[in-house]
Amino acid sequence: MTPSHDLRGFLDRLRATGELIEVRHPTRTDGEISAVVKEVEPAGAPAVLFHDVIGSDLPVVAGVFGTRERIASAVGQPRAGLLDHALNVIDGGGPPPQTVEREDAPVQQVVISGDHVDLAQLPFGVHSKDDAGNYITSGVVLARDDLTGTINTGMYRMMITGRNTLTVNAAPDHDLGRVFARARIANRSVEIAIVLGHHPAYAIASQLKNPTSVDTHELVGALLDGPLRVTPGATIDLPIPADAEIVLEGRVDPADMEGEGPFGEFSYYYGSAQAPVCTVTAVTRREDAIFHDLHPTHAEHRCLWLFPGREARLLEAVRRTVPGVRDVRIPFMGGSLSAYIQVEKRKQTDGTQSVLAALAADHFIKHVYVVDEDIDIHDDEQVLWALNVRFQAGRDLMVLPNQKGIRMDPSARRVNPDSAAELVTDKLGFDATRPFYPTFPERADRPVAAYEDVNLADFLDETDLERVQRWSTFRKAAGE
Ligand SMILES: Cc1cc2nc3c(=O)[nH]c(=O)nc-3n(C[C@H](O)[C@H](O)[C@H](O)COP(=O)(O)O)c2cc1C
Repeated sequence: MTPSHDLRGFLDRLRATGELIEVRHPTRTDGEISAVVKEVEPAGAPAVLFHDVIGSDLPVVAGVFGTRERIASAVGQPRAGLLDHALNVIDGGGPPPQTVEREDAPVQQVVISGDHVDLAQLPFGVHSKDDAGNYITSGVVLARDDLTGTINTGMYRMMITGRNTLTVNAAPDHDLGRVFARARIANRSVEIAIVLGHHPAYAIASQLKNPTSVDTHELVGALLDGPLRVTPGATIDLPIPADAEIVLEGRVDPADMEGEGPFGEFSYYYGSAQAPVCTVTAVTRREDAIFHDLHPTHAEHRCLWLFPGREARLLEAVRRTVPGVRDVRIPFMGGSLSAYIQVEKRKQTDGTQSVLAALAADHFIKHVYVVDEDIDIHDDEQVLWALNVRFQAGRDLMVLPNQKGIRMDPSARRVNPDSAAELVTDKLGFDATRPFYPTFPERADRPVAAYEDVNLADFLDETDLERVQRWSTFRKAAGE
């Protein structure tokens, strides 16, 4: 991997494409940075770089993962091809990381360890009104899987709880949650590194749903088309990405659980949990590090989580059941609790089968909308049209009561009124595909056949062409 495969190299690209806003006004980390990032979200969810952060020597950037196009272009793909590309990357693996000496690792230009660690020196911030405190939101946690020996990464909210302590909220059904559970039983601690700021491929790979037999660092190499550069940890035995901006090294004691939250989450409700405590053994960074923040109640959180990670897994799972499935989308709007599925129906039951496969593949999904191949699922207007003209509730609505619910959906119900541990929710499937009978009419909004591929550039001058193109992007929700 060439050294330009890092966060700062990517910010240069965003600067060139006009997707980076630079703020030189002094700004606070107590919620002010997040308020600005949220305020500019409707304008294409740009990244925002704050040069003058009160109380910090480091600049802060947030909003980096704001749109699908940005994520796809970071790994050299068009938006439409990224789901299949991600599935190929998981299947094919990638090059093993290349180990470099510590002197050649920018991330270890500054090493602060032991009693010198003071997390208050870094500009961790508050994001939503009732957040319990300062949170790490952009951190990619890397750990070794104790069963396979491979490196596994994921992103987890982490609350700063002391000078050198933080909580790591890894759900029990995630790979890291399982590593913690096994370590708890065996009375072992777990070494982790928290990577703050790297090339987007590093975070994107952390969201791929690969088996734990596959080393995530190799997948980063596959996404970047070249091996990831790593260096030995300063205080732990893990390969540290050499070109990161900042890395926290530490040890988690999975038996030492603490309450964390409330914390504003992806569904725009607060989450809180019991989470294991990590003691930070070292903070390493570039001399001129850029601090990477991520806004959790913003399109960038859902964009990075869904695309390509969860959507690629959904596509694969539903296609396995219904081979005519062409595309899937989990829209960012609506708390990202719904899924759109586009299918070229071969059997009458392909719509209902797609609903069942989608709900089984991803327990966060609550409402599934299945449409035919002529409906562009990246255009909400078309999905609504299909729902209104092809769907009959008495015939095509599927209601599945009492399914697995999530905490960040406050309408989910408790199984046991005295415990918040298990929640149930009702799920819906909307089969908005055309029924298979020959008299179902053709749609009427198609141009005359000879003019299907009309090229506006042949008819409009540059100003009008630009105006039309600008307006058509306004139809999309932020980040989509
Ligand atoms: C910004 C962001 C924040 C996330 N926060 C959490 C979290 O706090 N807890 C959690 O369990 N998963 C969280 N996730 C989801 C996991 O990182 C993701 O599902 C990852 O793929 C889990 O790893 P696994 O594939 O090993 O299960 C977050 C994802 C993103 C993009």
